[in-house]
Amino acid sequence: MKILAIETSCDETAVAVVSAKKVLSNCVYSQIKHHKKYGGVVPEVASRLHAESIHLMIKEALGKAGCSFNELEAIAVTQGPGLEGALLIGITVAKTLGKVLSIPVIPVNHLHGHIYSAFLGDSLPAFPFICLIVSGGHTHLYHVTGPFESICIGKTMDDAVGEAFDKVSRYLGLGYPGGPLIEKAAKEGDKTAYHFPRAVKHQEFAFSFSGLKTAVIQKINSQTERSEAFVSDIAASFQYAACDILSYKALLACETYQSNTLVVCGGVSANQFLREIIQEDGQKKSIKDIFPPFAYCTDNAAMIGIAAAYKLENPSYSPPLRFEVKASLPL
Ligand code: KG4
Ligand code: ZN
Repeated sequence: MKILAIETSCDETAVAVVSAKKVLSNCVYSQIKHHKKYGGVVPEVASRLHAESIHLMIKEALGKAGCSFNELEAIAVTQGPGLEGALLIGITVAKTLGKVLSIPVIPVNHLHGHIYSAFLGDSLPAFPFICLIVSGGHTHLYHVTGPFESICIGKTMDDAVGEAFDKVSRYLGLGYPGGPLIEKAAKEGDKTAYHFPRAVKHQEFAFSFSGLKTAVIQKINSQTERSEAFVSDIAASFQYAACDILSYKALLACETYQSNTLVVCGGVSANQFLREIIQEDGQKKSIKDIFPPFAYCTDNAAMIGIAAAYKLENPSYSPPLRFEVKASLPL
Protein backbone atom coordinates (compact mmCIF):
# COMPACT_ATOMS: atom_id res chain seq x y z
CA MET A 1 0.00 0.00 0.00
CA LYS A 2 1.47 3.35 -1.06
CA ILE A 3 1.01 6.05 1.58
CA LEU A 4 1.78 9.73 1.13
CA ALA A 5 2.79 11.17 4.51
CA ILE A 6 2.77 14.84 5.52
CA GLU A 7 4.45 16.39 8.59
CA THR A 8 4.19 20.13 9.31
CA SER A 9 4.11 20.29 13.11
CA CYS A 10 6.95 22.78 13.51
CA ASP A 11 9.58 24.22 11.15
CA GLU A 12 10.07 21.38 8.67
CA THR A 13 7.78 20.94 5.68
CA ALA A 14 8.16 17.21 5.21
CA VAL A 15 6.56 14.80 2.75
CA ALA A 16 7.36 11.12 2.22
CA VAL A 17 6.06 8.11 0.34
CA VAL A 18 6.15 4.75 2.10
CA SER A 19 5.11 1.35 0.83
CA ALA A 20 5.17 -2.04 2.56
CA LYS A 21 6.90 -0.38 5.54
CA LYS A 22 9.75 0.80 3.31
CA VAL A 23 10.57 4.43 2.61
CA LEU A 24 10.34 5.22 -1.10
CA SER A 25 11.11 8.91 -0.62
CA ASN A 26 11.65 11.24 2.31
CA CYS A 27 11.80 14.96 1.51
CA VAL A 28 12.33 17.64 4.12
CA TYR A 29 12.34 21.38 3.55
CA SER A 30 13.90 22.95 6.61
CA GLN A 31 12.79 26.50 7.37
CA ILE A 32 15.79 27.07 9.68
CA LYS A 33 17.32 29.88 7.66
CA HIS A 34 14.10 31.89 7.97
CA HIS A 35 13.85 31.48 11.77
CA LYS A 36 17.57 31.71 12.58
CA LYS A 37 17.63 35.49 12.89
CA TYR A 38 14.94 35.32 15.60
CA GLY A 39 16.83 32.65 17.58
CA GLY A 40 13.86 30.25 17.46
CA VAL A 41 10.76 29.28 15.50
CA VAL A 42 8.22 32.06 14.81
CA PRO A 43 4.82 30.29 14.51
CA GLU A 44 3.26 32.69 11.93
CA VAL A 45 6.34 32.53 9.72
CA ALA A 46 6.32 28.71 9.97
CA SER A 47 2.66 28.50 8.83
CA ARG A 48 3.23 30.81 5.88
CA LEU A 49 6.30 28.90 4.73
CA HIS A 50 4.46 25.55 5.00
CA ALA A 51 1.65 26.97 2.85
CA GLU A 52 4.15 28.23 0.27
CA SER A 53 6.21 25.05 -0.02
CA ILE A 54 3.98 22.05 0.69
CA HIS A 55 2.85 21.51 -2.92
CA LEU A 56 6.48 21.55 -4.09
CA MET A 57 7.43 19.00 -1.45
CA ILE A 58 4.53 16.72 -2.46
CA LYS A 59 5.67 16.91 -6.08
CA GLU A 60 9.26 16.16 -5.08
CA ALA A 61 8.33 13.22 -2.83
CA LEU A 62 6.09 11.64 -5.50
CA GLY A 63 8.75 12.21 -8.15
CA LYS A 64 11.54 10.63 -6.07
CA ALA A 65 9.31 7.66 -5.25
CA GLY A 66 8.35 7.26 -8.93
CA CYS A 67 4.72 7.33 -7.85
CA SER A 68 1.66 9.13 -9.25
CA PHE A 69 -1.31 10.51 -7.31
CA ASN A 70 -3.49 7.71 -8.67
CA GLU A 71 -1.28 5.02 -7.15
CA LEU A 72 -1.72 6.39 -3.61
CA GLU A 73 -3.99 4.38 -1.32
CA ALA A 74 -3.87 6.52 1.83
CA ILE A 75 -2.66 9.85 3.16
CA ALA A 76 -1.03 10.06 6.60
CA VAL A 77 -0.71 13.38 8.41
CA THR A 78 0.52 14.68 11.75
CA GLN A 79 -2.48 15.66 13.90
CA GLY A 80 -0.43 17.02 16.85
CA PRO A 81 1.26 17.93 19.10
CA GLY A 82 2.83 20.97 17.51
CA LEU A 83 2.14 24.53 16.39
CA GLU A 84 -1.56 24.91 15.65
CA GLY A 85 -1.27 26.99 12.47
CA ALA A 86 1.55 24.85 11.12
CA LEU A 87 -0.38 21.60 11.75
CA LEU A 88 -3.45 23.10 10.09
CA ILE A 89 -1.62 23.53 6.77
CA GLY A 90 -0.64 19.84 6.63
CA ILE A 91 -4.06 18.63 7.75
CA THR A 92 -5.94 20.82 5.27
CA VAL A 93 -3.79 19.59 2.39
CA ALA A 94 -4.13 15.96 3.55
CA LYS A 95 -7.93 16.19 3.83
CA THR A 96 -8.20 17.87 0.42
CA LEU A 97 -6.07 15.18 -1.24
CA GLY A 98 -8.05 12.46 0.53
CA LYS A 99 -11.31 13.88 -0.81
CA VAL A 100 -10.08 14.44 -4.35
CA LEU A 101 -8.46 10.99 -4.59
CA SER A 102 -11.21 9.25 -2.56
CA ILE A 103 -8.70 7.61 -0.22
CA PRO A 104 -8.58 7.54 3.58
CA VAL A 105 -6.69 10.10 5.67
CA ILE A 106 -4.93 8.73 8.72
CA PRO A 107 -4.16 11.16 11.55
CA VAL A 108 -0.91 10.32 13.35
CA ASN A 109 0.37 11.53 16.70
CA HIS A 110 3.79 13.15 16.13
CA LEU A 111 5.16 11.20 19.11
CA HIS A 112 3.99 7.90 17.61
CA GLY A 113 5.88 9.01 14.53
CA HIS A 114 9.06 9.40 16.58
CA ILE A 115 8.56 6.00 18.24
CA TYR A 116 7.95 4.28 14.89
CA SER A 117 11.04 5.96 13.39
CA ALA A 118 12.93 3.31 15.38
CA PHE A 119 11.18 0.69 13.22
CA LEU A 120 12.96 2.07 10.15
CA GLY A 121 16.31 0.56 11.06
CA ASP A 122 17.67 -2.95 10.61
CA SER A 123 16.77 -4.17 14.08
CA LEU A 124 13.04 -3.92 14.95
CA PRO A 125 12.09 -3.27 18.59
CA ALA A 126 9.99 -6.05 20.14
CA PHE A 127 7.14 -5.10 22.52
CA PRO A 128 7.20 -4.33 25.40
CA PHE A 129 10.06 -1.85 25.57
CA ILE A 130 11.08 1.39 27.24
CA CYS A 131 11.14 4.46 25.00
CA LEU A 132 12.92 7.73 25.68
CA ILE A 133 11.65 10.57 23.47
CA VAL A 134 14.08 13.47 23.44
CA SER A 135 13.27 16.47 21.26
CA GLY A 136 12.76 20.22 21.30
CA GLY A 137 9.43 19.84 23.10
CA HIS A 138 9.70 16.48 24.87
CA THR A 139 11.83 14.59 27.34
CA HIS A 140 9.50 11.71 28.15
CA LEU A 141 9.95 8.12 29.21
CA TYR A 142 7.31 5.61 28.13
CA HIS A 143 6.67 2.00 28.88
CA VAL A 144 5.48 0.89 25.44
CA THR A 145 3.39 -2.18 26.11
CA GLY A 146 2.15 -2.88 22.57
CA PRO A 147 1.47 -1.21 19.21
CA PHE A 148 0.13 2.30 19.96
CA GLU A 149 -0.16 1.42 23.64
CA SER A 150 2.07 3.20 26.09
CA ILE A 151 2.18 4.57 29.60
CA CYS A 152 4.14 7.71 30.41
CA ILE A 153 6.37 6.84 33.37
CA GLY A 154 8.36 10.07 33.58
CA LYS A 155 8.93 13.43 31.97
CA THR A 156 10.70 16.73 32.38
CA MET A 157 9.43 19.06 35.06
CA ASP A 158 10.60 22.12 33.10
CA ASP A 159 12.65 22.44 29.89
CA ALA A 160 12.92 19.69 27.30
CA VAL A 161 16.49 18.55 26.73
CA GLY A 162 16.52 19.80 23.10
CA GLU A 163 15.40 23.20 24.38
CA ALA A 164 18.35 23.20 26.83
CA PHE A 165 20.74 22.41 23.95
CA ASP A 166 19.21 25.29 21.96
CA LYS A 167 19.40 27.77 24.86
CA VAL A 168 22.98 26.94 25.84
CA SER A 169 24.00 27.17 22.18
CA ARG A 170 22.42 30.60 21.87
CA TYR A 171 24.20 31.73 25.05
CA LEU A 172 27.53 30.50 23.72
CA GLY A 173 26.87 32.41 20.49
CA LEU A 174 26.90 29.20 18.44
CA GLY A 175 23.48 29.69 16.81
CA TYR A 176 20.25 27.82 16.16
CA PRO A 177 19.28 24.98 16.28
CA GLY A 178 21.70 24.29 19.08
CA GLY A 179 21.92 20.50 19.23
CA PRO A 180 24.19 19.83 16.25
CA LEU A 181 26.27 22.98 16.98
CA ILE A 182 26.87 22.02 20.63
CA GLU A 183 27.75 18.50 19.51
CA LYS A 184 30.29 19.86 17.00
CA ALA A 185 31.90 22.26 19.52
CA ALA A 186 31.95 19.51 22.18
CA LYS A 187 34.12 17.30 19.95
CA GLU A 188 37.03 19.72 20.56
CA GLY A 189 36.36 20.06 24.30
CA ASP A 190 37.03 18.25 27.59
CA LYS A 191 33.80 16.83 29.04
CA THR A 192 35.30 16.80 32.55
CA ALA A 193 36.43 20.46 32.44
CA TYR A 194 33.39 21.57 34.48
CA HIS A 195 31.06 19.52 36.61
CA PHE A 196 27.44 20.47 36.02
CA PRO A 197 24.55 19.11 38.13
CA ARG A 198 22.67 15.92 37.26
CA ALA A 199 19.31 17.23 38.51
CA VAL A 200 16.66 15.20 40.35
CA LYS A 201 18.82 12.09 40.20
CA HIS A 202 16.89 10.59 43.10
CA GLN A 203 13.37 11.29 41.82
CA GLU A 204 12.88 8.10 39.86
CA PHE A 205 11.98 8.99 36.26
CA ALA A 206 11.53 12.78 36.44
CA PHE A 207 13.90 15.04 34.52
CA SER A 208 14.83 18.68 35.00
CA PHE A 209 17.06 20.72 32.70
CA SER A 210 16.44 24.30 33.78
CA GLY A 211 18.91 24.04 36.70
CA LEU A 212 21.56 22.61 34.40
CA LYS A 213 20.94 25.39 31.89
CA THR A 214 21.24 28.05 34.63
CA ALA A 215 24.45 26.51 36.01
CA VAL A 216 25.96 26.53 32.51
CA ILE A 217 24.91 30.15 31.89
CA GLN A 218 26.38 31.22 35.25
CA LYS A 219 29.68 29.57 34.34
CA ILE A 220 29.67 31.34 30.96
CA ASN A 221 28.95 34.69 32.64
CA SER A 222 31.75 34.18 35.18
CA GLN A 223 34.30 34.27 32.38
CA THR A 224 35.13 37.60 30.77
CA GLU A 225 36.83 36.10 27.73
CA ARG A 226 35.16 33.41 25.61
CA SER A 227 38.05 31.60 23.98
CA GLU A 228 37.36 28.78 21.54
CA ALA A 229 38.74 26.29 24.09
CA PHE A 230 36.38 27.64 26.79
CA VAL A 231 33.35 27.34 24.48
CA SER A 232 34.31 23.75 23.56
CA ASP A 233 34.85 22.75 27.19
CA ILE A 234 31.47 24.24 28.21
CA ALA A 235 29.74 22.48 25.29
CA ALA A 236 31.37 19.14 26.13
CA SER A 237 30.68 19.40 29.89
CA PHE A 238 27.04 20.44 29.30
CA GLN A 239 26.47 17.65 26.76
CA TYR A 240 28.03 15.14 29.18
CA ALA A 241 25.76 16.23 32.07
CA ALA A 242 22.59 16.17 29.90
CA CYS A 243 23.31 12.81 28.24
CA ASP A 244 24.57 11.20 31.46
CA ILE A 245 21.26 11.79 33.28
CA LEU A 246 19.22 10.71 30.23
CA SER A 247 21.16 7.45 30.04
CA TYR A 248 20.99 6.86 33.80
CA LYS A 249 17.20 7.28 34.05
CA ALA A 250 16.31 5.49 30.82
CA LEU A 251 18.36 2.45 31.84
CA LEU A 252 16.92 2.58 35.35
CA ALA A 253 13.45 2.45 33.75
CA CYS A 254 14.51 -0.63 31.76
CA GLU A 255 15.65 -2.35 34.95
CA THR A 256 12.51 -1.35 36.87
CA TYR A 257 10.17 -2.55 34.11
CA GLN A 258 12.37 -5.55 33.30
CA SER A 259 12.81 -4.52 29.70
CA ASN A 260 15.99 -5.45 27.88
CA THR A 261 15.29 -3.01 25.02
CA LEU A 262 15.61 0.75 25.13
CA VAL A 263 14.35 2.78 22.16
CA VAL A 264 15.66 6.36 21.96
CA CYS A 265 14.09 8.74 19.44
CA GLY A 266 13.36 12.42 18.69
CA GLY A 267 15.75 15.10 17.43
CA VAL A 268 18.29 14.73 20.27
CA SER A 269 18.69 11.02 19.43
CA ALA A 270 20.79 12.25 16.46
CA ASN A 271 23.49 13.08 19.03
CA GLN A 272 26.42 10.69 18.63
CA PHE A 273 27.65 11.21 22.21
CA LEU A 274 24.21 10.25 23.58
CA ARG A 275 24.31 7.11 21.43
CA GLU A 276 27.75 6.21 22.75
CA ILE A 277 26.99 6.78 26.44
CA ILE A 278 23.72 4.80 26.28
CA GLN A 279 25.40 1.98 24.38
CA GLU A 280 28.29 1.82 26.84
CA ASP A 281 26.11 2.03 29.99
CA GLY A 282 23.52 -0.34 28.47
CA GLN A 283 26.06 -3.01 27.64
CA LYS A 284 27.03 -3.22 31.31
CA LYS A 285 23.36 -4.04 32.10
CA SER A 286 22.73 -6.24 29.05
CA ILE A 287 20.24 -3.70 27.70
CA LYS A 288 20.08 -3.32 23.95
CA ASP A 289 19.59 0.19 22.57
CA ILE A 290 17.73 0.95 19.35
CA PHE A 291 18.10 4.39 17.79
CA PRO A 292 16.42 5.40 14.49
CA PRO A 293 18.68 5.74 11.46
CA PHE A 294 20.21 9.25 11.57
CA ALA A 295 17.98 10.67 8.77
CA TYR A 296 14.83 9.83 10.74
CA CYS A 297 15.82 11.32 14.14
CA THR A 298 14.77 14.91 13.56
CA ASP A 299 11.29 15.71 12.25
CA ASN A 300 10.45 13.97 8.97
CA ALA A 301 7.40 12.52 7.23
CA ALA A 302 8.70 8.97 6.73
CA MET A 303 8.13 8.35 10.45
CA ILE A 304 4.51 9.54 10.08
CA GLY A 305 4.00 7.25 7.08
CA ILE A 306 5.49 4.24 8.83
CA ALA A 307 3.36 4.81 11.95
CA ALA A 308 0.28 4.94 9.68
CA ALA A 309 1.34 1.69 8.00
CA TYR A 310 1.49 0.00 11.41
CA LYS A 311 -1.93 1.45 12.32
CA LEU A 312 -3.45 0.05 9.13
CA GLU A 313 -1.99 -3.37 9.91
CA ASN A 314 -4.52 -3.72 12.72
CA PRO A 315 -7.77 -5.10 11.16
CA SER A 316 -9.90 -3.37 13.77
CA TYR A 317 -8.49 0.09 12.89
CA SER A 318 -10.62 2.31 10.69
CA PRO A 319 -9.57 5.86 9.82
CA PRO A 320 -11.82 8.49 11.45
CA LEU A 321 -14.32 10.26 9.22
CA ARG A 322 -13.54 13.54 10.95
CA PHE A 323 -10.58 14.81 12.93
CA GLU A 324 -9.20 18.20 13.90
CA VAL A 325 -5.83 19.73 14.74
CA LYS A 326 -4.75 18.92 18.30
CA ALA A 327 -1.88 21.21 19.22
CA SER A 328 -1.36 19.52 22.59
CA LEU A 329 -2.26 15.94 21.72
CA PRO A 330 -0.87 13.56 24.36
CA LEU A 331 0.37 10.09 23.46
O1 KG4 B 1 12.32 16.00 16.95
P1 KG4 B 1 12.75 17.36 16.55
O2 KG4 B 1 13.29 17.54 15.15
O3 KG4 B 1 11.57 18.40 16.71
C1 KG4 B 1 10.69 18.35 17.79
O4 KG4 B 1 9.73 17.52 17.73
O5 KG4 B 1 10.95 19.12 18.75
O6 KG4 B 1 13.84 17.85 17.62
C2 KG4 B 1 14.46 19.11 17.52
C3 KG4 B 1 15.45 19.24 18.66
C4 KG4 B 1 16.12 20.61 18.73
O7 KG4 B 1 16.05 21.08 20.06
C5 KG4 B 1 17.54 20.33 18.28
O8 KG4 B 1 18.49 21.21 18.87
C6 KG4 B 1 17.74 18.90 18.77
O9 KG4 B 1 16.51 18.27 18.50
N1 KG4 B 1 18.83 18.21 18.06
C7 KG4 B 1 19.95 17.76 18.67
C8 KG4 B 1 20.77 17.24 17.64
N2 KG4 B 1 20.11 17.37 16.45
C9 KG4 B 1 18.91 17.97 16.73
N3 KG4 B 1 20.32 17.80 19.96
C10 KG4 B 1 21.53 17.29 20.27
N4 KG4 B 1 22.38 16.78 19.34
C11 KG4 B 1 22.06 16.74 18.02
N5 KG4 B 1 22.90 16.25 17.14
ZN1 ZN C 1 9.59 15.90 16.66
